[in-house]
This record gives sequence, structure tokens and C-alpha cells, in this order.
Amino acid sequence: MTDNALQQQTIGFGTWPFQDDEATAAVVSAIGVGYRLIDTASRYGNEAAVGRGIARSGVPREQLFVQTKLRGDDHERVGDALKSSLELLGVDYLDSWLIHWPLPMLGKYVDAFEQMLQARDEGLVRQIGVSNFLPEHLDALEERTGERPWTNQIQLDPGLRRDDLVAELRARDINIQAWSPLARGDVGQDAVSKIASDRGLAPAQVMLAWHAAIGSVPIVRSSNPDRQLQNLEAISIHLSDDELAAIAQQPQRELGDFDPRTHDER
Ligand SMILES: NC(=O)c1ccc[n+]([C@@H]2O[C@H](COP(=O)([O-])OP(=O)(O)OC[C@H]3O[C@@H](n4cnc5c(N)ncnc54)[C@H](OP(=O)(O)O)[C@@H]3O)[C@@H](O)[C@H]2O)c1
Repeated sequence: MTDNALQQQTIGFGTWPFQDDEATAAVVSAIGVGYRLIDTASRYGNEAAVGRGIARSGVPREQLFVQTKLRGDDHERVGDALKSSLELLGVDYLDSWLIHWPLPMLGKYVDAFEQMLQARDEGLVRQIGVSNFLPEHLDALEERTGERPWTNQIQLDPGLRRDDLVAELRARDINIQAWSPLARGDVGQDAVSKIASDRGLAPAQVMLAWHAAIGSVPIVRSSNPDRQLQNLEAISIHLSDDELAAIAQQPQRELGDFDPRTHDER
């Protein structure tokens, strides 16, 4: 697979909160069924176990898309953080490195982004992205560096549609990744269940097909190899305009504890 094809992954495998052998086994199995984008984070404490999974998968490194994240405590020690992630994962470059949370109360994310761009320019990372960023945070990055992150990984599912943010990311040509794309397994939402039962699909597949339809790359987790495959296959399911309109009627939740303006996770 070329670099270009790797960058166009339509689904990724999430590894939080797996630890130790469970993380390794989940990654081996996910790569075995066909995932190529593997998502982890320094904060998850599982980079070494995920790295063992990558090594044991038997798929050559250059055919995988390895993504990890800079934690809040590391906004001021970017070089050391990169060294640590590379060592733990057992790789000599990252395909994608994200700032995990902007942490505006700390006020260091623009400096961190600038240093991450430098690591990219030195060849240790292919692309620099962010997670949980709002337009005001993206503005601050662009004002200082003239660059936009390649992706923004945000909490997104049919019950948390975030239309304004999604439209803003599209307008800025920033790739959208979705975390908790299945609302952490809360797949029994009304419109989704009805479409699933009408079409003989799993509700999770309808949710993932919705992500594909809106141009979001779901970073989905399952410890179960059958569901890993079911989820992977969902990306090629097409939802009709009527089905998308029915999902759009679904009641919306609030961001709650995960508001990037206030969420303090280091
Ligand atoms: N950037 C951030 O701030 C951030 C925050 C949170 C998470 N993340 C990333 O996003 C990834 C995914 O989010 P998440 O783990 O919170 O939740 P999720 O992927 O929305 O949901 C995972 C849950 O759904 C269940 N599930 C998976 N496939 C299913 C299927 N086909 N049918 C029924 N249930 C199914 C899983 O159970 P089984 O294992 O039993 O299948 C698990 O309980 C994480 O692993 C992590 O990599 C990023």
C-alpha cells in the first residue's frame, strides 16, 4: 500500500482502555481482520502492549498506519515524549501524532504543535494532528504556524452530531476522526435500531455507516474478533437519504464532562 492509500483510511481501531495482553491480542486480531489504522495514546498506558501487537501481527510496518497522542503533561517536553512513544511502540516513525486535548487552561498547545511540526520535518512523524480541538484552538495554531493539523479526532456519534464543528472542519479541509463512534457501545438508539432491523444489520453497523456517510473516520474499539470484522465491513454499507434523515432526527446529548474548553486530562 502506498503512503497515499494509507492516509485515506476510512476506519481505525481504538485501543483504549485495553492493557497488557488484552491490548496485544486485540491489536493482533484487529490487524488480522484487516484494520490498518491503529490508534493509541501515551495517556492510555498501553503503547508497549500495542507495539507488541503490531510486531506480532505479521503485517509489515510500512503497511500499517500507527497513530498515538501527546498527553497534557508532555506539552512542554515534546521531544522526550516522542522518543518515549517511539520506543514503547517499537517503531522508528509515527504515521500520525495528535495533541490529545488542547488544555487551554495550561496554554501550551500552540508551542507543542510547533515542536511537533519540527519533528515531522525531521522525518520522525509523517503527519501532525489534534484531538478535541474547537475552531478557536485551530485558529491559534494557524495564526502562529500557518499550518493546519491534518486531522481532528473528536467525540462524535449519531446522538452527538456536532453539526457546526463538523461543518467547520470540512470547510477547513481537516480530516475528521470520531472517538467513541458507537457512543461507547450504546447502540440501541431509536432510528438506528429501526434501520438495523429493517435491513438485517447490527445497530453498530448502522452507526458506522452513518460515520462513513458524513465523512467521519470512526476509531472503533472491540475486544471481540467477530465484532471487529462486523465493524470493518460496515464502512462499505450505504445509507439512503431517508435513512440519514431519520438518524438526523435523533435526540442530541450534551458534551458533558468532555468539553474541550474545560476538560483537564493530562
Ligand atoms: N481522543 C480522545 O480523547 C479519545 C477519548 C476516548 C476514546 N478515544 C479512542 O476512541 C476509541 C473508541 O472509543 P471507545 O472505546 O470509547 O468506544 P466505542 O468504540 O464507541 O465503543 C466501544 C464499545 O462498543 C462495543 N462494541 C464494539 N463493536 C460492537 C458491535 N459491533 N456491536 C455491539 N457492541 C460493540 C465494545 O464492546 P466489545 O469490546 O465487547 O465488542 C465496547 O464496549 C478508543 O478505544 C480510543 O482509541 C479517544
